Amino acid sequence: MIPQENLVDHENDKKIPLLVAEDIIKIYQTGKIETQALRGVSFKVNPREKVFLIGHSGSGKTTLVNTIAGIIKPTSGKVFWKDLSKDITKSSLEEIIKARRSFAGVIFQDSRLLSHLTVKENIELAGHYAGINPKVIKKRSEFLLRFLNIWDKKDKREDTLSGGEKKRAAIATTLITNPRILIGDEPTGDLDVVTAESILDLFDRINKELGIAICIVTHSQQVASRADRILELRDGIIIGRHGKEIVLRNLEESRLLEVDRQNRLALPKSILSEVNDPKHFTISVKGSDVILTPVFDPNLYNNNGQEIITCAMCGKLVSHTAKFCPYCSETITNKKGTK
Ligand SMILES: Nc1ncnc2c1ncn2[C@@H]1O[C@H](COP(=O)(O)OP(=O)(O)O)[C@@H](O)[C@H]1O
Ligand SMILES: [Mg+2]
Repeated sequence: MIPQENLVDHENDKKIPLLVAEDIIKIYQTGKIETQALRGVSFKVNPREKVFLIGHSGSGKTTLVNTIAGIIKPTSGKVFWKDLSKDITKSSLEEIIKARRSFAGVIFQDSRLLSHLTVKENIELAGHYAGINPKVIKKRSEFLLRFLNIWDKKDKREDTLSGGEKKRAAIATTLITNPRILIGDEPTGDLDVVTAESILDLFDRINKELGIAICIVTHSQQVASRADRILELRDGIIIGRHGKEIVLRNLEESRLLEVDRQNRLALPKSILSEVNDPKHFTISVKGSDVILTPVFDPNLYNNNGQEIITCAMCGKLVSHTAKFCPYCSETITNKKGTK
């Protein structure tokens, strides 16, 4: 049981989601090159829930957690926090920083402790910046130092701490504001297996005993099997979800395919290759089953040889039905190419 004077009780959380991401699109522009890192991602985190994000490198995990943590703005889409009354993508940076203090603790891979301060001073400073009453800061930091098992390290500076101790201290600096969710991008990625395991135990305790929701990106098998819900990203969309019995080396076995908000469904590569990689299907319903039947017809354009039309004026891709370029209004002539 958490002492009331130390942390605010989250028991009265309403049964509404804590965080909602809706149709998040993020396009990075580097010079003339555009990278579509997220192509319409929607998901929710409920109070006290542990949601983990997995996916290959480059699938958009970092972009997604940074977006839901309010660190980067999406190109389009909405992110709702707390009582869900406010879409933070419309807020100023100052408003986001203020709202984040009482809502989200962000755990980075590096500890971000100030090296000239002790562990206790780092925690207190974080509380001070968040405008918390000094008496509350004192009580909470004592509670957290014990809860996170670093009481005997409280007067030490960062350079004398082990990796796991630094991580615990960093977690304490985020918990001093009593956030409702911890968000992290591979928070144990820099630790050895044994230390990572102890930090994961700590996340479990933070979740269960303090009632704080967790949303983290991970590559690790041990991490994934501790989640309530695992969402799998691929090429900037959520393609499915997994339960606790997940084997990261063989995701197709545990994946429950998910139809996203735009009615998209990503078919597993292994299934497609088993039936000779068809590019077209007919679809029919038999009882409660939906049946996809591959169609191999050389007269159909396949996805790799799709008809594309570029605008002669600005060079951007346009729809083959477009009469005018949506970017520069030039009339579209039939200048075709193949991808
Ligand atoms: N700041 C950036 N500028 C340009 N492209 C980026 C930037 N950050 C990420 N990307 C690109 O966006 C895609 C998704 O990246 P990221 O979110 O880091 O994926 P993950 O964390 O799953 O590896 C990748 O193709 C990556 O190269
Ligand atoms: Mg990443």
